[in-house]
Amino acid sequence: MAHISAGVATSHVPLLGRAVDTRDTQSEYFKPIFDGYEFSKKWVAEEKPDVVFLVYNDHATAFSLDLIPTFAIGTGEKFKPADEGFGPRPVPDVMGSPDLAWHIAQSVIQQDFDLTIVNEMDVDHGLTVPLSMLFGQVEAWPCQVIPFAVNVVQFPPPSGQRCYNIGKAIRRAVESFDADINVQIWGTGGMSHQLQGPRAGLINQAWDNQFMDDLITRPETAARIDHVEYLRETGSEGIEMVMWLVMRGALSEQVNVRHRHYHVPCSNTAIGHLILENSA
Ligand code: DHB
Ligand code: FE
Repeated sequence: MAHISAGVATSHVPLLGRAVDTRDTQSEYFKPIFDGYEFSKKWVAEEKPDVVFLVYNDHATAFSLDLIPTFAIGTGEKFKPADEGFGPRPVPDVMGSPDLAWHIAQSVIQQDFDLTIVNEMDVDHGLTVPLSMLFGQVEAWPCQVIPFAVNVVQFPPPSGQRCYNIGKAIRRAVESFDADINVQIWGTGGMSHQLQGPRAGLINQAWDNQFMDDLITRPETAARIDHVEYLRETGSEGIEMVMWLVMRGALSEQVNVRHRHYHVPCSNTAIGHLILENSA
């Protein structure tokens, strides 16, 4: 049977994609950020996941106010990097995993979660930047990817608790797929950030680090954080952190922390990164 071996959490700041694409990762500004991914690049190369189930949010790129799915699963064969205003990033197409994605859709919907099934969409920085952070500049991504988009752009977003619960449903779905494959789940976005308005640039390092502590050892506590607390403490875009809870829900109760990284600033935000493995 398929299994989920590990979870990765990472911010998906678009500026980092630009740094990779222009080979600027070793400049004074970016080096401390990318240094925090050196371990991760070696780790993922050794782990060789067959499929990454990648939880991210679309930033009004593939979706718009015309259509706002709360949870959307990419069941297509292939997803192209989106044009977010400056042309598509020079990164490979993302190869999907249709059989597993359809199986997860069937299982998770039968577990009473509503998913939107998406056969065709372009994927924005929310999905491609994490791939660049872990795999670097490559001709082809080394594994298949199932995009899983969560609405955190237009109110109302799903609660952290619902995201945590859907992670558990995703784990059950993967573990009932009849193929001996290694699946990782990645939760992206965060950490504290507000990109607009009078509080633009808000960063709350103490809160971010407490969130990471809770996510690791007390995920039920982290799952209970409500929208107003994310907004108040971490800025309007800090709500992206609910996507880390999808990842955490798909792991075992106890996890081993293989890697932890936190850095301020990156663009207007704090970046955070975790690698968690299921404890035996
Ligand atoms: C920025 C955009 C994001 O989607 C994000 O998660 C963090 C930062 C930005 O535009 O800087
Ligand atoms: Fe984002």
